[in-house]
Amino acid sequence: MKTIAIIGLGNRGAMYAMHLSRYGAKIIALCEKNPNLLQQVQNKYNVPAENCFTSDEEFFAKGKLADGIVIATQDRDHYGHCMSAIDVGYDILCEKPVSPLYEECAEIDRRVKEKGILMMVCHVLRYSAYYDKIKQIIDSGVIGDVVSVTQVENVGYWHFSHSYVRGNWRREDETGPSILAKCCHDLDMIYYLTRKKAVLVSSTGSRKLFLPENKPEGAPKYCLDGCPHAKKCPYHVSKIYLKPTRYTIPYMITNKRLITQKAKSSMKDFKKALKTSPYGRCVYECDNDVMENQTVQLKLEDGVNATLTMTAFSNSCYRHTRISGTKGEILGNDIAGKFKVNVFAGKRKKIRFGLLQLLSHLGGDVEISKEFIELLKTRKPSKRASLMAETMESHINAFAAEESRKTGKTIKISDFIK
Ligand SMILES: NC(=O)c1ccc[n+]([C@@H]2O[C@H](COP(=O)([O-])OP(=O)(O)OC[C@H]3O[C@@H](n4cnc5c(N)ncnc54)[C@H](O)[C@@H]3O)[C@@H](O)[C@H]2O)c1
Repeated sequence: MKTIAIIGLGNRGAMYAMHLSRYGAKIIALCEKNPNLLQQVQNKYNVPAENCFTSDEEFFAKGKLADGIVIATQDRDHYGHCMSAIDVGYDILCEKPVSPLYEECAEIDRRVKEKGILMMVCHVLRYSAYYDKIKQIIDSGVIGDVVSVTQVENVGYWHFSHSYVRGNWRREDETGPSILAKCCHDLDMIYYLTRKKAVLVSSTGSRKLFLPENKPEGAPKYCLDGCPHAKKCPYHVSKIYLKPTRYTIPYMITNKRLITQKAKSSMKDFKKALKTSPYGRCVYECDNDVMENQTVQLKLEDGVNATLTMTAFSNSCYRHTRISGTKGEILGNDIAGKFKVNVFAGKRKKIRFGLLQLLSHLGGDVEISKEFIELLKTRKPSKRASLMAETMESHINAFAAEESRKTGKTIKISDFIK
């Protein structure tokens, strides 16, 4: 049985503990700086106390405690934790983005190659039945050669306000730009589906709504301090957290744990936390600076074009994909669980997925956990494995998009990564 260490037991780390142990790995070592969250996971999986740490230094000083490690700390911590894990000799499953800095990604890539470490990055969409099927259809040649890919990442107004206005990914200096944090999945998918590298990248972006000048008169800093606009404002915490819609219900449990920072909490604790937590703030009085909308144009190898649009302003959180080939097209909406394949002057097909194939990143969270266990067993990456070397592609394109957005110039990738 393969053994696993996990560092960072927030939303993602706790979720990987569940899937990895369910699919046959043993959680044997943990590191989490919040003792309450650490204790919960330690108890759940009977992890020996001598292998549980609140300090990352003490954890890595113990050397290699398991076959593989999951790195699920925050974006800016991944670099340090990856470098320590590489030195110790762990095979790695690292959350995306690997780092908001190109130099750090390149150094990690170099070091894993040097040391023969297997490192997978959590581009979970690759492992979903939905994108797996799209990939199979493209590879079958039925739509001919891919000419263009159009990907639209509709973040969802409630998800954007939670993560990118009030939450962890609101500031570029603390995490990274939203086109990397949210859309490295989409940039990875553009590469994975076409297997074409980017040659030129350009991008524009904007912030329009979540700005101090849009704050309505009389709104307090915290929504629950009697905001007079509570009824009309879609971002009031009573709507986002306390009376969730069908779109936000799946996030209730993880949001409670995140906002209270407690393993278990009552609704009373939750409401109390919202009175002082960053997540309880008026969306017009947060210290956010990441883009709300961004469009990226990519000229890929062999005359293939791709565009990616990210927008905060959609009702639900989903991706639209359009792939045009020389002989046909694929048109999909992932959260609706269906896509169409139209072969020109030929067959039309609708492909549908069941509800279970749509939960938790379209089933990708479960499948990547299984794939990591398999990788540890066989040490042979599958064709879809999101290895570190492949991850460089999505991350470089996100960095180039940011450079373009800031400078107004088109970025030639061969010059950019010199
Ligand atoms: N693959 C995906 O689709 C996906 C989705 C959401 C988040 N993420 C990424 O996953 C990572 C984790 O996100 P999350 O939502 O679980 O965040 P989180 O804040 O809920 O969890 C991070 C945890 O790491 C702990 N931590 C921080 N520094 C530590 C240290 N030095 N030592 C030990 N523990 C430490 C924190 O206390 C926290 O519990 C982020 O990089 C995020 O961008 C990926």
